[in-house]
Amino acid sequence: MTRDFAGKVAFVTGGASGIGEAVALQLADRGAKVVIADLKLDAAQSVADAIKGKGGEAAAVAVDVAKIDQVEKAVQFVLDTFGKLDVAVNNAGIGGAAAPLGDYSFEDWHKVIDVNLNSVFYSMKYEIAAMLKSGGGAIVNMASILGSVTFPNAPAYVTAKHGVVGMTKSAAVDYAKKGIRVTAVGPGFIDTPLLANLPKEAHDGLKALHPIGRLGTSDEVAALTLFLLSDAASNITGSYHLVDGGFVAQ
Ligand code: NAI
Repeated sequence: MTRDFAGKVAFVTGGASGIGEAVALQLADRGAKVVIADLKLDAAQSVADAIKGKGGEAAAVAVDVAKIDQVEKAVQFVLDTFGKLDVAVNNAGIGGAAAPLGDYSFEDWHKVIDVNLNSVFYSMKYEIAAMLKSGGGAIVNMASILGSVTFPNAPAYVTAKHGVVGMTKSAAVDYAKKGIRVTAVGPGFIDTPLLANLPKEAHDGLKALHPIGRLGTSDEVAALTLFLLSDAASNITGSYHLVDGGFVAQ
């Protein structure tokens, strides 16, 4: 395993489960010091403990990414704990209620927009300020295939993820000359706890939507995310990268 993230400090939101957990573990395997930020502190601590158990450096912090003051404190925790911030993955997210737009409640709408879209603004605002202090960094925002196409009964999620792709482009262009690269990842349906409540038929139906004939794995999404965060991606910014088993190509 290459240790190309040695000496780097990473911040992963939603790092206690699924894709975020895989990103945190792969970053640690490649030498990064990792702060795992999640609504579920116990689960985040377990991921940090697993990293420490393998000789890595990690810490956990509780955060609700939909709350500005909590995001500010979580980024400050990174600086207080490891002294700087080099790479960030804004990954925390929820599926939200399923209904067509006309039936979507205001409450459900605001919840999904707060957790999946506004959170990325709050996070990047504090991450960019921290990265500027140490001369730059790299950010990956976890969008979705639904950052470029739609899906039935998911108006808030589709809107939020399209917004994440737009916000990624905006921040990337504004900070390109300041040493900060910003990209977005668009996973197809991935076999994580986010999909755990689906009945088996729905799970099978989702598999069939992917030309590759299966759901993706968190490790596959993490592999792309780490490439985009790494120095190997030094000329890549403002772009949106699918890891979707061919879903969007159809
Ligand atoms: P997951 O449910 O396994 O993990 C999400 C993590 O985010 C959990 O640990 C949860 O506690 C945390 N979280 C939720 N709300 C939070 C909040 N307000 N503040 C802080 N932490 C919070 O989900 P998964 O599948 O790993 O999803 C991660 C990201 O990937 C999400 O942004 C999701 O929209 C995106 N994604 C997932 C896909 C999938 O099929 N699983 C497909 C495309 C994108």
